[in-house]
This record gives sequence, structure tokens and C-alpha cells, in this order.
Amino acid sequence: MLKLSNLTKVYDEKVLAVDDIDLRVESGEIFGFIGPNGAGKTTTIKMITGMLNPNSGKIEIDGIDIQHEPIEAKRKFTYVPDRPEIFDAITGYDYLNFIGDIYKVPAAERQPRFEKFTIPFEINKDLGKPINTFSHGMRQKLLISGALLPNPKLFILDEPLTGLDPKSARLLKDIMREHCSNGGTVFFSSHVLEVVENLCDRIAIINKGRIISIGTVGEIRAHGTSLEEIFLEMTRDE
Ligand SMILES: Nc1ncnc2c1ncn2[C@@H]1O[C@H](COP(=O)(O)OP(=O)(O)OP(=O)(O)O)[C@@H](O)[C@H]1O
Ligand SMILES: [Mg+2]
Repeated sequence: MLKLSNLTKVYDEKVLAVDDIDLRVESGEIFGFIGPNGAGKTTTIKMITGMLNPNSGKIEIDGIDIQHEPIEAKRKFTYVPDRPEIFDAITGYDYLNFIGDIYKVPAAERQPRFEKFTIPFEINKDLGKPINTFSHGMRQKLLISGALLPNPKLFILDEPLTGLDPKSARLLKDIMREHCSNGGTVFFSSHVLEVVENLCDRIAIINKGRIISIGTVGEIRAHGTSLEEIFLEMTRDE
């Protein structure tokens, strides 16, 4: 579903943020992407989404090269960014309809699809208000609800648990699991290792732009006692 080959990103001709990484996410998987601050997670995700151009390497989404066929590739996924910065002046409804327009969700199907996520996230009563009146968590939940609206094949999230209350975080985890059970694929970054350990089918650990470990939770756990222990050991500065 997602294949990265020899992917490299250098900022300002000197900061090697992502260094020749290879990664495959299979259809139906929940894949966790973990690594210390500044390791290259967001940079990788922004290249996958086409927001940043790699210096070299290839990204295929469901077999489509995003650099060659960006529109086709972008039909395959939706994305929740690490910071919920969205259009401030429009209402929640306007935002969801805007996403519905872009992804050509038929008008008749929109209301039940809006409600499917905004009711459990408890933001449905706020959708008529401008987004600049939303709290951080409310914006985050609006972004997630919008990203799920087109029922994407690949659902990409950058640190989605940040700022969510426990009930909403639980709900998001259930949604991610359900998305995969229904044939979708999830790729997300997180610092919440306990969630990654319990939720993901496979995990990659990135450190200083390089993938230092990749495998199933069981395979990675074989290197130590807990994911936290393994993470701290593998990413320790010598
Ligand atoms: N726009 C930019 N210009 C220059 N350097 C950047 C830029 N964005 C990120 N970097 C650098 O690239 C490296 C990787 O950053 P990135 O944001 O991908 O890390 P991350 O793994 O997402 O970290 P975090 O866990 O803090 O979100 C860091 O060294 C960072 O300083
Ligand atoms: Mg980041």
C-alpha cells in the first residue's frame, strides 16, 4: 500500500533529515512510526503526502508514484497533520463539506458520514461555529473526522494522540483498528510507545534520519523487555 525506496531529504543543503530509508506498509496494516524528536518522522510523512519533495528516492502509494502522478496518488490517502492548523474563519460544517467536495463525496452521503465521527467525538453540536472558537482537541477531532470522510485506502496521521483527552484517544485507537478491519491501512507517528506497542501490526524506529529497526511488535520486542526499553537503548547517544 505504501512503499518508500531510498528516500532522502536534505534541508537547506546541509541538514540530512531523512537518510536513504526503505519502508513498506502492507494493505490492512496499522503501522507505527516512532523515533526521538528531530529523527525525521514529520519530514518523511510530508514527503509521502507530497507536501515536500525528496532530494532522491521514490514513494509509491498503492502502486502509484506520487512524484509522477500526484493527483492519482493523493486520491488514495488522507492525512492528519501534527498541528491542527486549519482555516480559522469557516465553520466546522464548511470544513467538512470542503473535504467532501475535494474527495467528491456525494451530498446525500455526507450527513451520516459527518455524524459517524463527530457524534462520538462530541463535536457535532459545535460544527456550526467558526473553527477559531474550537479548542486544540476539538480542531484535532474535526481534522480526524474530515480525514475519515472519504474513507481513504491509506490513513496517515502525524502524532494524532497529542492533545486528545483519554476518551477521544481511546476512540481514535478504536477507529484506527476498525479502519484496518474494513480493509484500510493506517500509518502514524507517535511518541506514545504504549499505544504503538498495543495497537500496531508493525513498527519502524527512525533515528537521525535512518531506520534502525523494523518489524512486527513481536520481532522488535525480541530485542528487549518492553518497547520503551528497546527504544531508549537503540536511540541512545553514544
Ligand atoms: N523546514 C525545515 N528546515 C530545516 N530543517 C528542518 C525543517 N523541518 C525539519 N528540519 C530538521 O529536520 C530534522 C527532522 O525533523 P522532523 O520534523 O522530521 O522530526 P520529527 O521526527 O518529526 O520530530 P518530532 O518528534 O519532534 O516531531 C530535524 O533535524 C529538524 O531540525
Ligand atoms: Mg514531527
